[in-house]
Amino acid sequence: MNELKEKIIKLKKSLDVTIVAHYYQKDEVFDMADITGDSLELAKRSSQTDTEFILFCGVGFMGQSVKVLAPQKRVLMPRIACCAMARMIDVDYFDENLNIINKAGIHTKDILPITYINSSAEVKARVGKLDGIVCTSSNAYDIIKRALKSGKKIFFVPDRCLGQNFANDLGLKSAVIGIDDMKKIKSADIICYNGFCSVHQLFTVDDVAFYKDKYPDIIVAVHPECDPSVVAVADFVGSTSQLIKFIKELDISQKVVVGTEYNMVHRLRQKNTYTLSATKPQCPTMNETTLEDLYNTLKSIKDGKYENEITIEKDVAKYAKIALEKMFEI
Ligand code: 13P
Ligand code: SF4
Repeated sequence: MNELKEKIIKLKKSLDVTIVAHYYQKDEVFDMADITGDSLELAKRSSQTDTEFILFCGVGFMGQSVKVLAPQKRVLMPRIACCAMARMIDVDYFDENLNIINKAGIHTKDILPITYINSSAEVKARVGKLDGIVCTSSNAYDIIKRALKSGKKIFFVPDRCLGQNFANDLGLKSAVIGIDDMKKIKSADIICYNGFCSVHQLFTVDDVAFYKDKYPDIIVAVHPECDPSVVAVADFVGSTSQLIKFIKELDISQKVVVGTEYNMVHRLRQKNTYTLSATKPQCPTMNETTLEDLYNTLKSIKDGKYENEITIEKDVAKYAKIALEKMFEI
């Protein structure tokens, strides 16, 4: 075994710590984790562990979610890497967009905001203050369906693709602020903020056509952060966990091309498995975390320095928790 891995294992044994890693982490980091999963599973499972420290290998909003749900825990991240999509929205942008919705003739009291978990604690808190909910790609369908029972329109942030894809799935009308006109915004059931994932934007309808042409029996499986045009021609759409389950159940002779992050796809099934892009679809921020970072953060716990510890302002944590807990209730 690699010398650094041995040092990490040894150091970890002397500490009260759980190492957590998202599916998109590099293999060598992923191998060191006690808990692995998608964003929903990680938020839930790591907040329920009995160790004092959580060492979270992922992107910033994921570590924040654990801290919000389990404030008594000390959450440290080897890298506080910020998801490109989460960075596309802050509270000011949220409010500006809410103003545009108001200008389209819809009152704030008639809007129920839903934020994808890929957003900062501040944005989640803003949503929580407005009686809104958090969702992930695993549960967005159920959360949106339940939210619509309120009779309100949904303001979905920050991923326009997720909002549009689930609106299409539910047979609802959607509009994107900044792209669609006021008339379309006014008549939409789901009004989307204009954010997106730079990695999932790499996958195109042409890529699907290329693979279908080359291997007519291939199955196309994509994450709902892909553009609606890609989702429309895919055979299966699901969150990272749902994709893993679907692909693992396929016969190994079945070719599959997957529209999501490279590290996860590559680890999943080496034979008859392709990524839906001519370029390697790696998430730059997920890939920032290295084994060395992991070792240094553990060492900082040992030395009492607690590097990259997640802290959240009290009021922000309070309202972000309200929005996150509503998701778990549903
Ligand atoms: P999951 O919720 O499926 O883990 O996805 C998180 C993410 O960032 C996908 O790009
Ligand atoms: Fe964010 Fe996209 Fe990376 Fe997921 S893949 S963490 S949405 S930038």
